[in-house]
Amino acid sequence: MFEEATLYSPVIKNDRGAVSVVFSKDHPGYHDRDYQEHRAKIADAALRYVPGRPVPDIEYTEQEHATWRLISAELAEKHRRHACREFLAGSERLALPTDRLPQLSEASATVQRATGFRFSPAAGLVGVRDFYGSLADHTFQATQYIRHSSMPRFSPEPDMIHEVVGHGSHLCNRRLAAIYELLGRTVRRLASREAVLAVSSVFWFALEYGLVREDGRLKACGASLLSSCAELEQFQDAEIRPLDVAQMASLGYLVETYQPVLFCADSFAHLEDFLGTFLTEVTDDSPLLAA
Ligand SMILES: [Fe+2]
Repeated sequence: MFEEATLYSPVIKNDRGAVSVVFSKDHPGYHDRDYQEHRAKIADAALRYVPGRPVPDIEYTEQEHATWRLISAELAEKHRRHACREFLAGSERLALPTDRLPQLSEASATVQRATGFRFSPAAGLVGVRDFYGSLADHTFQATQYIRHSSMPRFSPEPDMIHEVVGHGSHLCNRRLAAIYELLGRTVRRLASREAVLAVSSVFWFALEYGLVREDGRLKACGASLLSSCAELEQFQDAEIRPLDVAQMASLGYLVETYQPVLFCADSFAHLEDFLGTFLTEVTDDSPLLAA
């Protein structure tokens, strides 16, 4: 999770060290004290995490396992119809359980065997430079909570379903993992916040919401699209544009609703080349970023 979640559920620590998560009134968990306490415990464990140590296990509730069973089955069916081949290959390698919510540590171990990446727990908001920069060290900072069970098809913030199903499948694919690593190295060498935000925006349209053509058909490649049951049924209705760095870097994106504009590569290799070139060549002074 990175700054896309700024508006949602900030984690705070009071003077006595007690951790809590602040929910907005329209969050499905706003009236659920048990869920709020559970989320605070998960955030607390992440804040105590020491890099290099094992990722702490979370005691998930039966309701949370049920949410996972429901949504992972729905997503698996939609992936067969809408996901691009590289995502499906990563997903197959990740082989997440369908009967229970996995621990982040389990998913991390599988990802690490596949590509050398690992998950590390994030309590909540991670600064954009920290989040992307850690990809250069093969580390993806992920949340460990899952959405509220009253609205299983909706999450106002990135949760385990997004992180593990979406990004985990990417990180189990060597070609996608190589792009994540390059993204991390690119962000590390950029000095200006504007340039980092522009790179973040290109990433958003390419690997959170990106599409690729396969055999003349539109397929989803982005982790956000592929972790959202609703958006996998809607994306074909968006305005589809060809990849374009200047537009992708400057077009504002929406975190609370469907993306009205999506970008599509001619093929996965085209997406790979496009991002490889952009991430290698972009500098703090790139004129395209000022468009
Ligand atoms: Fe994401």
